[in-house]
Amino acid sequence: MDTPSASTPPKGKKTINDFPKPTRQHIINCGFPEWYKLYRSITGRARVIPFTQGFLDYLNEDGIVLPDENPNPQSNDTDSGIFSSATTNDDDDDEDEYEDPSYRFAEFHATVRAAITQLGGAVYPKLNWSAPKDAGFIIGNVLKCTSASDVYLLLKSSNFITHDLEHAFDDTDDGPDMGGNVLKQEDIQYALVLRKWVEVITSVEFRVFVKGRKLVCVTQRDMNYYDFLEEGKVEFMALIEEFFEKYLEKTFPDDDFVFDVYIPKTIVTESRVWLVDINPFAIRTDPLTFSWTEILNMDPNEEGFEPEFRLIGRNDPEAYGFAGAQYSAHKLPQEVVDAGNAGPASIGEFARNWKEIVQQLEGAGLEDSSSNEEEEEGEIKDEDEGEDDGGVKLDKKTDAP
Ligand SMILES: Nc1ncnc2c1ncn2[C@@H]1O[C@H](COP(=O)(O)OP(=O)(O)OP(=O)(O)O)[C@@H](O)[C@H]1O
Ligand SMILES: [Mg+2]
Repeated sequence: MDTPSASTPPKGKKTINDFPKPTRQHIINCGFPEWYKLYRSITGRARVIPFTQGFLDYLNEDGIVLPDENPNPQSNDTDSGIFSSATTNDDDDDEDEYEDPSYRFAEFHATVRAAITQLGGAVYPKLNWSAPKDAGFIIGNVLKCTSASDVYLLLKSSNFITHDLEHAFDDTDDGPDMGGNVLKQEDIQYALVLRKWVEVITSVEFRVFVKGRKLVCVTQRDMNYYDFLEEGKVEFMALIEEFFEKYLEKTFPDDDFVFDVYIPKTIVTESRVWLVDINPFAIRTDPLTFSWTEILNMDPNEEGFEPEFRLIGRNDPEAYGFAGAQYSAHKLPQEVVDAGNAGPASIGEFARNWKEIVQQLEGAGLEDSSSNEEEEEGEIKDEDEGEDDGGVKLDKKTDAP
């Protein structure tokens, strides 16, 4: 295979330094609130709740104080077992007063609570671009939230969310757009996105790369080996190409982009393609089994060009989990992880000891280093939603588990 080395690339081959910076408008176009307007019918059910200043201030605040999910006006007992700025100490007579932070964004909070109920009681949260995947360990390693407090706890604990809030325009082209405007951080309308929880079968998730409005390559997303994928390759590729041509090819505002799809088997004889996310055609998007240099050198206009569908092979190191723990660079030390893993009772305990833990970590120089829904498994939305008119189906059985 032609593998150019970074120092001396063969003549005419692009290196990572040739990667053009994405425009700020492209970053906005890849934000959920933006693309959801175009592709509502081909993705799962969701609610987009625009931020209020009160909620943004709350997210930016230090410390984690959560709303009381079961406010009891009769009681003055502040020890509800949730995170509180007060360090509860049984020997201490004078407890600090707990102040429910949601009073400062009451309308937003009520909308979040209502959305969770409307979406069936469990949601997957994210902001415009990122989900708090690095914080999932706190509530048991999944991002399944059944209360507003679950959502806020994840958002406030996640470095990925901080990145969305503070660094969305990092490494972008800061020139004016076609209208002569330079988008600034303040121009971003942030929103909380709540997606109906789905028990996703990750083996049938794929990432698709588009250059010049042409599909150039596809990779599986779950970096494990699945033999059924090899057998179903041709069918999966046909479904993805059909989906791209039908829904995205002519409608997405940019010529280059990356989209994620989910292709579960909904009934025994049918697979259906769902749009999961749209990502910038930029270094910040993980190319998974490809490298960006490879993708940069793909030319869909070359004669005989065929998009490559790459899977993890049986003997690839990734298939044996040698690649390192996911999000490990963003995780907290083991004692914090242990507290999160031990279940709700320990989370309460952990909350009460939060300040103490942080102080200990600081003392040791270890402070934060970076400072399928309740319906059918695999199904992505209610049949009765009325939004369910999109998607590409193939009357062929796939070997999805
Ligand atoms: N509604 C949902 N319910 C359960 N899991 C979901 C849901 N939506 C997405 N997921 C899972 O979370 C993964 C990441 O979702 P998403 O792409 O929205 O987050 P992200 O922060 O953009 O992640 P990435 O950087 O990997 O693209 C999906 O591939 C899927 O496995
Ligand atoms: Mg994504």
